[in-house]
Amino acid sequence: MKNETPLRHSAPGWSPSSWRSKPVKQIPDYPDAAALEAVETRLASWPPLVFAGEARALKAELAEISEGRGFLLQGGDCAEAFAEHHPDGIRDFFRVFLQMAVVLTYGSASSVTKVGRIAGQFAKPRSSPMEKRDGLELPSYKGDIVNDIAFTPEGRTPDPQRMEMAYRQSAATLNLLRAFAQGGYANLDNVHSWMLGFVEDSPQGHRYRALADRITEALEFMRACGVSAESTPQLQSTELYTSHEALLLGYEQAFTRVDSLTGDYYSTSGHMIWIGDRTRQPDHAHVEYCRGVNNPLGLKCGPSLSPDGLLELLDILNPHNEAGRMTLICRFGADKVLDHLPALIRAVEREGKKVVWSCDPMHGNTISAAGFKTRPFDRILKEVQSFFAVHRAEGTHAGGIHIEMTGTNVTECTGGARAVTEETLSDRYHTHCDPRLNAEQAIELAFLMAENLQAEKRDRTARKAA
Ligand code: TRP
Ligand code: MN
Repeated sequence: MKNETPLRHSAPGWSPSSWRSKPVKQIPDYPDAAALEAVETRLASWPPLVFAGEARALKAELAEISEGRGFLLQGGDCAEAFAEHHPDGIRDFFRVFLQMAVVLTYGSASSVTKVGRIAGQFAKPRSSPMEKRDGLELPSYKGDIVNDIAFTPEGRTPDPQRMEMAYRQSAATLNLLRAFAQGGYANLDNVHSWMLGFVEDSPQGHRYRALADRITEALEFMRACGVSAESTPQLQSTELYTSHEALLLGYEQAFTRVDSLTGDYYSTSGHMIWIGDRTRQPDHAHVEYCRGVNNPLGLKCGPSLSPDGLLELLDILNPHNEAGRMTLICRFGADKVLDHLPALIRAVEREGKKVVWSCDPMHGNTISAAGFKTRPFDRILKEVQSFFAVHRAEGTHAGGIHIEMTGTNVTECTGGARAVTEETLSDRYHTHCDPRLNAEQAIELAFLMAENLQAEKRDRTARKAA
């Protein structure tokens, strides 16, 4: 492959394929190695999905956040699915995301960096490689980019062709998102119209409308002063970046390209990629792959990560301590934040490491109820509250949120202002993988975070005055 020649800028001992000589977890067993190689070779010749300059722009925004200015909003499906590739789903996700961004931007009076878990979020790690049903044992479903959710021998056999499908779906999704972000849909003059029909009559709908009224009023005042969306492009459009877990390394390698402007390697399958909690062993393949690409990286931090373990990973993944490179996505579970987060923050502060602290309140709060995998919304809120409280106590910046959400009116997480109960979970439970927040729950969460960001700001001003 022609992207194999190490250039002067590559990390020591690294190449796009150096991960292949390391122990690896969570990579599927493809029965036909020749077919896999043929697909990977073809993908390596296809156009990149994102441009390196965009990844650098995102890194610069994250660098600001690591210095205490701004907030990272990251969210989307647990897993994208081939069967759910509809324009309305993409639009409705984007609407809710914009609403959350507006609530946060207005509430905290600081900029919000928007990163979707979208246009590439297909591969899933699983706790068990095999699944057994009625005496039949088959490979677990690992996301549409690997195999089919249908429990049949054909469906569950890993099929490399699926990578091509995932790439094409990602390209189409990204194309529509870019159009929405830049083409007028995200114009702040449309702040009222992002509300979804089923949210309008809810408590969160009322709250959102009141805020949108204030924004419209402010825009009218500014227009009278001669500043409008026509004269000020910043009001007309927004940036939406993409991200996914860099799990399927053969696919990632195929989209690893040298940026012609800088000579640096970038992953061009998305702007930001992250390493999962199950695949962050320092001497294993996923860490090896990620250390060599220059994109902003996420690192999922669960209860098993020690402060020393974290510092070791930061040294490998960000040896020059570049700001904006590392986002630590903490996912402990509502009851465990206080046990784990302060020690990690203190280690990072002591060593002067530059990171963005982000909270994933989803993955540590999954339970089983009425035969469904669900997440109680009050535990999600509690994890977020604790995350903010710990940062306030430590004097560090609660820099972001990482959530699984959808614009569809699903009933997957219990609770919320119009309570989803364990009995009503089955009404509209559609996820291919983990339970997601619906639009109302996502907006409620945004309001809660806006309040917390205001409190953090008040603290900071008081400290400065003292
Ligand atoms: N461009 C600014 C931003 O992205 C303002 C803005 C335009 C905006 N449209 C938006 C903010 C939609 C939030 C949501 O922050
Ligand atoms: Mn998930």
